Amino acid sequence: MNFDMLRGDLEEDPRSAPSFAIISQELTRLQNLVQRSLDIGSFGRMTKEKVELRALFDEILATFGVQLQNRKLSCDIDIPRCSMLADREKLRAAISNLVNNAIDAAGPEGRIRVTGALHPDGTRIDCSVTDNGPGIPGTVNVFQPFYTTKTGGTGLGLPNARRIFEQHGGTLTLESSEPGKTVFAFSLPLEAVS
Ligand SMILES: Nc1ncnc2c1ncn2[C@@H]1O[C@H](COP(=O)(O)OP(=O)(O)OP(=O)(O)O)[C@@H](O)[C@H]1O
Ligand SMILES: [Mg+2]
Repeated sequence: MNFDMLRGDLEEDPRSAPSFAIISQELTRLQNLVQRSLDIGSFGRMTKEKVELRALFDEILATFGVQLQNRKLSCDIDIPRCSMLADREKLRAAISNLVNNAIDAAGPEGRIRVTGALHPDGTRIDCSVTDNGPGIPGTVNVFQPFYTTKTGGTGLGLPNARRIFEQHGGTLTLESSEPGKTVFAFSLPLEAVS
């Protein structure tokens, strides 16, 4: 806020504009980094409650509504209704990062698909987030902490998301990636809901 006011006063000088742009980017990066580190720091604490997964997905996608619209992205969702005991906010953070990454990758007029299927024995749900972006080179480990190709990215979104799914007894993997189709898959156990 103070930085924006200062920028307003001084940005008219064309010599300082590029420096302000860099400072602004770095501030955003630091802000994200601190937030992600706090997420990791609270790793041990879980507040479990009954979570309806389809409703959570709907809420998450609604928060990306403006971005999806502005970028003319289509987003299909096919998640069955099912309840589980989970830490709602942690799951929200993990799934939001997958959707955010898919939106960043999909590019203008791209497509994102979110699907889920209950395992036949009813003990877990297998979900995936798919985008039609450029794909991820096979040599890259996107789960490596601090790996990022984004201005303002922390590179902690995926490692953090994986830890959250594992903390719930689930998994997160890059199922496949090629130009035009990248699939992240996660699986979550459906613990008994009392
Ligand atoms: N769907 C995807 N398609 C292509 N590349 C991806 C995709 N998802 C992730 N990546 C790559 O993996 C990197 C790491 O992702 P991660 O979510 O950990 O961090 P980030 O998105 O860069 O930063 P942040 O999550 O803090 O915004 C990304 O910068 C990007 O290069
Ligand atoms: Mg991310």
